[in-house]
Amino acid sequence: MSRKVALIGYSGHSYVVYDILERMGKIVSGYFDRKAAMKNPFSLEYMGEENPDNIIAKLKELDYFISIGDNKIRGSIFENLSGKLPLPVNAIDPSAIISNKIIMGSGVMVGAGAILNSMAEIGDGVICNTGAIIEHECKIGRFAHLAPGCILAGNVEVGANTLIGAGVVVKQNIKIGRDVIVGAGTVVIKDIPDGAKVVGNPQRHIE
Ligand SMILES: CC(C)(COP(=O)(O)OP(=O)(O)OC[C@H]1O[C@@H](n2cnc3c(N)ncnc32)[C@H](O)[C@@H]1OP(=O)(O)O)[C@@H](O)C(=O)NCCC(=O)NCCS
Repeated sequence: MSRKVALIGYSGHSYVVYDILERMGKIVSGYFDRKAAMKNPFSLEYMGEENPDNIIAKLKELDYFISIGDNKIRGSIFENLSGKLPLPVNAIDPSAIISNKIIMGSGVMVGAGAILNSMAEIGDGVICNTGAIIEHECKIGRFAHLAPGCILAGNVEVGANTLIGAGVVVKQNIKIGRDVIVGAGTVVIKDIPDGAKVVGNPQRHIE
C-alpha cells in the first residue's frame, strides 16, 4: 500500500493538487503551513509550520508534495529539504497524456487534461497546470509554472522560476529566460531575457 501524503502549503493551488492526488488513489492526511488554515475544505490535520526542521521531524512515515503556487517559495522549500528527506512525490492527474519519452523531475504537478509530448524535459517542482500543452522537445526549468491552458509549441525553452501565464501561446524554438513573467494571454514570438515581464499580442516588455 502506498504511503499517505502530506501537503506543504494549503491554499488555492493545493486544492487542485489534493484532487489530483485523490484521483491517483493517494490519501492526503495532513498539511504544513505558516499557521493553521482558516479554510480547511478537506479536514486535514495541521502538522505545524512549513520550516524544514518541523517538516523533517514529522515526515518519517509520510510522502510529501510542495503545493505552493509561488515559484520561489516552492523552490526554496524543495532545496531546504533536499538531501534531508526523500524527494517529493509527483502529482500527475490520470487524465493527462504524457509521452513515455519524456524526462521528469520530482515534485512535479501535471494537471487534468495536460499534454506532455515526446522528449519534453520537465525539471523538479514544475507545475504543468490544467490543460497546458507542452510540445515535443520543450525544456522546462526547475520550479517554473505553466499556467492553465498555455501552449508551448515544439522545442521551447523555459528558464527556472518562470511563470507562463494562463492561455499563453509560445511559438516553436523560442527561448524564455529564468525568473520571467509572461502575462495571461500573451503571444510570444521572440526570445525573452532573464527577469523580464511581458504581456500582449505580440509580446511587449512592461519590465
Ligand atoms: C503580467 C501581470 C503579472 C502584470 O501584472 P502587474 O505587474 O501588476 O502589471 P499591471 O497590472 O500594472 O499592468 C501593467 C500594464 O500591462 C498591461 N497588462 C497587464 N497584464 C496584461 C495581460 N495579461 N495582457 C495584456 N496586457 C496586460 C496593463 O493593462 C498595463 O498596461 P498600461 O501600462 O498600458 O496601462 C499580470 O497582469 C498577469 O497577467 N499575470 C498572470 C496571471 C496568470 O496567468 N496566473 C496564472 C495563475 S494559475
